[in-house]
Amino acid sequence: MDYAHLTDLFERQFGRQCRLFFSPGRINLIGEHTDYNDGFVFPGAVDKGIALAIAPNGTRTVNVLSADLEGMPACSFSLDDSRRPDQRWACYVFGTCMEIAVRGFECHGFDAVFTGDVPLGAGMSSSAAIDCVFAFALNELFCGSRIDRFELARIGQATENNWCGLNCGIMDQFASVFGKKGQLMRLDCRSLEYEYFPFSPKGYSLVLVDSRVKHMLGGEYNERRQSCENAVAAIAERHPQVKALRDATHDMLDEVRNAISETDYQRALYILDEKDRVLEVCDSLEKGDYENVGRCMYRTHWGMSRQFGASCPETDFLVETASACGVSGSRIMGGGFGGCTINLVKDSIMDDFKREVTRAYRERFTIEPKFYSVTIGDGSHEIIL
Ligand code: GLA
Repeated sequence: MDYAHLTDLFERQFGRQCRLFFSPGRINLIGEHTDYNDGFVFPGAVDKGIALAIAPNGTRTVNVLSADLEGMPACSFSLDDSRRPDQRWACYVFGTCMEIAVRGFECHGFDAVFTGDVPLGAGMSSSAAIDCVFAFALNELFCGSRIDRFELARIGQATENNWCGLNCGIMDQFASVFGKKGQLMRLDCRSLEYEYFPFSPKGYSLVLVDSRVKHMLGGEYNERRQSCENAVAAIAERHPQVKALRDATHDMLDEVRNAISETDYQRALYILDEKDRVLEVCDSLEKGDYENVGRCMYRTHWGMSRQFGASCPETDFLVETASACGVSGSRIMGGGFGGCTINLVKDSIMDDFKREVTRAYRERFTIEPKFYSVTIGDGSHEIIL
């Protein structure tokens, strides 16, 4: 990322100096859609994200420019007007300001320019990187760093929930804020207890394959969440201690099979299976059994595809091709409906795998897939040049 260029842009646009901040996107090894079911997830921050040049402007107005949307005028809004701006990306900025203010912290006017190298709509959570870089920077600029990292992640999640129409869980914002170089994190999304897990498997690498089917998470994602809540409501009638699918067993779900729709049943079943898989992966990681980690990844994929209904023909094809190439693990990553697959690949077959996927995907869909090798990076921080 060219930070000097970003600073130059800011200074040319606003005629004064700025501070620089960065928040990353994330990968997730396993535990998909478990976060809003109070389960476990296994994310890590990546070395790609959003960089922000920012300075207070002494007014009640916010002026933000996206350096990547060329020719796009700056978006301006007043902190005293609760109408959301029109551009979707600006809602993330606006929502973050509102969520900080609602919690009783100060938020004043500022000027900002941001840029990113995390691909949009690829399942790497570019939007969490935007929420989190603004929340982190505003905390430094106006709140004397008094908002702790947990609350910063919650502010990011609330921004998506309340201002951007996505009823997401906490995983992406947590990963963006708490990320640590070389470490994955096992997060309990109910208690927010977490543990860092060093991840550098000998002889294997993680690579993302971008299907280039862009997803814009919204209605379909929210419907999946609603299905989970429907299943919980039915189970709780008989088992009042069940507050989320985390508390439910396969037997409990089977008891209510006739009381809920088959779609809700299948989606809830995927979540219960995925809960077990996350624990199995933790166990396998401790034993260094990466082949079993990989097998769990494939099972997650087909659960996401057939039970949860959150894959698409392109990502299914990428996973089938990975399997045919002898890749240890492969699955759709993130919210779903397109974006990237995450692949656990033996270094010895990496080049052949990439060559074969490129050939096969091009032939089947006339799309050139993109590859991103995964480097686990740090969470939100200030950049001092
Ligand atoms: C999106 C959401 C997360 C999580 C994942 C699926 O990335 O933002 O909260 O639910 O999908 O695991």
